[in-house]
Amino acid sequence: MINFPRAKPSSLLVATIFAISAVSMTGCSNSSETKAVDRLEEAEALARVKALEARAETLKGNMPAASDMSASAGGGDAAGAAGGKPAINMPDESTIPDDERGAAIRRGLQIVNHTYKEMPNNVGNQLNCTSCHLGNGSEAFAAPWNGLPGIFPIYRSRGGRINSLQERVNGCFERSMNGTALDLGSDDMNAIISYMTWLSQDMPVGVSPEGRGFVKVNKELEPNPETGEKLFAEKCSVCHGDNGEGQYNDDGTYIYPAVAGDKSFNDGAGMARTYTAAAFIKGKMPFGQGNTLSDQEAVDIAAYFTHLPRPVKANKDKDWPNGDAPKDVRR
Ligand code: HEC
Ligand code: HEC
Repeated sequence: MINFPRAKPSSLLVATIFAISAVSMTGCSNSSETKAVDRLEEAEALARVKALEARAETLKGNMPAASDMSASAGGGDAAGAAGGKPAINMPDESTIPDDERGAAIRRGLQIVNHTYKEMPNNVGNQLNCTSCHLGNGSEAFAAPWNGLPGIFPIYRSRGGRINSLQERVNGCFERSMNGTALDLGSDDMNAIISYMTWLSQDMPVGVSPEGRGFVKVNKELEPNPETGEKLFAEKCSVCHGDNGEGQYNDDGTYIYPAVAGDKSFNDGAGMARTYTAAAFIKGKMPFGQGNTLSDQEAVDIAAYFTHLPRPVKANKDKDWPNGDAPKDVRR
């Protein structure tokens, strides 16, 4: 692949910026390392930290970030038109009860943020649930989980049948995590569902919140992967690597997650579909700069990186048994 010359901040520096933003968003402790950097990089880094902190502040205040609001004004969310829908709200962790149910909720929160480490038997790549379901699975327009226990079971055309929330979670284990399904009644599955239920404590039953799914992109646009390759080099590879391979700590956990290659999601995942990936990155990438790409740029970049080499999902031909597969489905 062609390499485009650009300034590349040291990965340690970038890791530090991310650590700071992660601390302010999740309250998890994170070792932040410092290293001498040149002045320009430092100034850029500080500007980015400021932007990320401001964003974390709006999330903490349970307000959709300003950028998210303009996104919804521009087209609504993946689940339908905005207006009068409940807002997404990450409850305060102090509301987790001090009993067995609380222990399950905490285990669920641990699993979704550290899935690669916690679930080695069920994860076949190096991602976490929250690599895509940002902000503890509670960030608007990053496919948040708030409200889902009151929405599932639902009919899904991919399998042509009604799916429980547990089955939907397993769909992401088998595809997004390139792994294997959990037992539907296992402690870890119950922990994940307990966490999602805790997230949903203030949500009305059966109503999609504002920000369910992703922002909308125009699916009529024709993707141009060559333009996408250039844009990826400009806007994405500084964190995700020249070939989308990601950046890693010594223990195999990532600094930045893989968007391609054997540590990434497989070709049967929702994120492997051009328009689904475009909708995610338009709203959320480059990280901290959501809603800066045009629809065409998002579609071009998505067509490029989703079709880089990645794990192959078996039996994809059994998906969409009723012949109603969307046009970007992989076969
Ligand atoms: C590579 C990205 C990625 C990862 C990692 C991932 N998911 Fe997903 N997930 C998606 C996409 C894409 C969707 C579909 C969103 C849409 O249709 O708007 C989705 C949808 C879901 C939904 C249904 C959301 C809804 O509104 O109906 C649930 C529940 C879910 N994922 C749970 C999980 C869990 C639990 C994990 C970890 C085991 C996980 N996901 C890991 C990308 C991912
Ligand atoms: C400043 C660093 C940075 C830049 C630049 C950036 N990302 Fe990300 N990306 C992240 C982080 C951080 C996450 C989420 C990881 C987490 O929260 O655990 C992420 C997550 C993702 C994911 C979902 C997880 C996965 O690995 O599949 C995709 C897809 C993605 N980015 C694509 C892109 C694309 C395309 C661009 C360019 C338009 C881009 N990113 C630019 C840092 C970045």
